Formats: sequence, structure tokens, C-alpha cells
Amino acid sequence: MTILVTGGAGYIGSHTVIELIQSGYDVVIVDNFSNSHPEVIQRIETITNQTIKYYANDIKDSEAMRKIFAENAISAVIHFAAYKAVGESVEQPLKYYENNVSGTIALLEIMQEFAVKTIVFSSSATVYGADNPSPLTEDMPTLDANNPYGYTKIVNERMLKDLAHSDPDWSVVLLRYFNPIGAYETGTIGEDPNGIPNNLMPYITQVAVGKLDQVSVFGNDYDTPDGTGVRDYIHVVDLAKGHVKAVAKALAEAQLYIYNLGTGQGYSVLDLIHTFSETNDVDVPYQITDRREGDIAVCYADPTKAQQELGWIAEKTLVDMCRDSWRWQQNNPNGYQAGNMND
Ligand code: UFG
Repeated sequence: MTILVTGGAGYIGSHTVIELIQSGYDVVIVDNFSNSHPEVIQRIETITNQTIKYYANDIKDSEAMRKIFAENAISAVIHFAAYKAVGESVEQPLKYYENNVSGTIALLEIMQEFAVKTIVFSSSATVYGADNPSPLTEDMPTLDANNPYGYTKIVNERMLKDLAHSDPDWSVVLLRYFNPIGAYETGTIGEDPNGIPNNLMPYITQVAVGKLDQVSVFGNDYDTPDGTGVRDYIHVVDLAKGHVKAVAKALAEAQLYIYNLGTGQGYSVLDLIHTFSETNDVDVPYQITDRREGDIAVCYADPTKAQQELGWIAEKTLVDMCRDSWRWQQNNPNGYQAGNMND
């Protein structure tokens, strides 16, 4: 059975491709490499010992997408392709709506044309906004996001729900990710942010490796045990495995499904910094700075529904996440740029 993975060269996409292949699926990737590197494909091939079929196209290029659907017997799509930088979305909202919303519309139109009506969508805990209390459950209202990026997830969710309601043949899974970190255990694929990282873990690893001076801890006056922000960090391999379970469920019975993919456990910024330092025996200098605009104090999942309905549970610990992020960073100090592996 063949799964089309949009954005399959990206951070979560690449890990999901590996898990799909290891579960016996055939995979086709479509990725425009706007925020990923073609080198990823070779790394996936080495890990899986298989040739990966991929198309270097944009999902908004309908002609190219028609060709992909015509050439491959696709049963379902896992749709990752999107922009994801929160700050950039505030500065360039149209770029985000155009890519993330128009991209999904273009994809769904082609899927409809080829009668492929099973889709797993990359959503985010950001759809819960600032007002719902943690632990977050799937039935909570999702009307407010803090930024345009978050609204593109809300709009896409709404669109996919409407589609599922309009035609019972559509099978739609909305997966709401919490904070994915970590890397594949070989240290050969991982997160490769453009420029200075926005997210905490890649910032920590770049400080630890000496590329950046110190981590700025954005506020220590939140209403949390140590005053710093609390998040539900989840190992990217656990997250990837959730997609395999989700696509199987969607293929077995056409429905609308919504699941949180998190561990259910909140850790603070300082917890993460200290666990990283201790696990890897490396210094991570930090200083407390002002809060970052738009951040909330606490965000963690209630993952019960995914456990009950998908039989999925996050298995890796915070120590695993810290160890694997560090192995990836050490092996690839400049990400996927040519010639970095182990030099
Ligand atoms: N933080 C720092 N210093 C940094 C970066 C982050 O102290 O340099 C703190 C933040 O204030 C927050 C925590 O670390 O408390 C995690 O921040 P991230 O930027 O890593 O992650 P966020 O929770 O802000 O954002 C993530 C995803 C978004 C998504 C959002 C809500 O990156 O895509 O969760 O679901 F929208």
C-alpha cells in the first residue's frame, strides 16, 4: 500500500517516512525542499536500505501533482508540507495563508480528482490557543491561535472537518502535535533549522556545540513550579509512530478523527536545559530574559484518546530526547550541508 508524504524531507516527515517503511508501507515523497535538504533522502535510504521515490515539486503545482497521482497507486496522504515559523508568520501572514491554506486546498482538489480520500494532517497544539487549561483534550474549543501560523492550522482543520462532513468517503485524521524534539537514534537525520533557531531544543544544541553563546530563557515569572514555561516535549520517533497508527486507522474506516500526540508530561525550560546538560555531560550556559510575546505558561496534552483508539503511547523519555538531539547535532554541526557528517 502506497502512502504519499508531502513534506517528507522535513523534520517530522523524514522520521515518519522511516516508520512507514519499517511498517511495510510503500512511500512516495513530494517536497519542494524550501525548508529541507535533498541529502535527507539519501540518509533515509541508508537507514531503510531502500530506494526512496521522491518528487521535487510544490504541492500547489497541480500539473506535477496530477503526474504523481497518475504514476503511483496512492492509498492515502500524510500532509506535512507547510511553513512553521511563528515569528515569520506574524511578519508575513499572507505568505503563511498562501502556502499553508492554499497548499492544502490544492492538494485536496487533486486527491478528490483521483478519488484518494484518506488524509492525515499535521496539526498543532497551537489550535488550543491561550485559554484552554492543560491537560488539553481534543474536545476543547479551538477558535483562537496566537499567530497567523496557528490560524493556518485552525483553518486547515476546519476545512478538513467540513470536507469529512460533506462526503462520508473522506477519512480525515487531525494530529495535534505538542513539542517534537529528538532525532533518529543513528544521529543521521534530525531537525535542521534555517539560521538562528526559534525553538528551544535546537537552540540548546547549538549553544552546547559552541555555535551560539547562551540560551535566553524567556521569562521565569510564569505561574509554574520554577517560573519558566512548561511544555509537552515528545520524541520525534514516537510522533512518527503515531502517524503510522493514524493512517492505518483512517484506511480501515472512513471517519473524522482528532488526536493529541503528546506524552502528557510537562517539563519546564530549566528542566530541559538541566536534563540536556546532565545527560550529555555538556555545559549549556543560559540567562533569564524577558518573556517572549505570545508564549503561554503551560501547554501539555491529555494523550488518553490516542492511547485508547490508536493503541499509541509515547515511549521515549526526556533523557532519550536529549541524548538523541545531541547525537544529531554533534554528528551534523551544520545540519545537512554537504560534507558535515562526522567531520
Ligand atoms: N524558549 C526559551 N528560549 C528559547 C526558545 C524557547 O526560553 O530560545 C521557551 C519558550 O518560551 C517556551 C519553551 O521554551 O516556554 C518552548 O518554546 P519553543 O519555541 O520550543 O516551542 P513553543 O511551545 O513556543 O512552540 C511550539 C511549536 C509551534 C507551535 C507551538 C504551540 O514550535 O509550532 O508549540 O503548539 F505553534
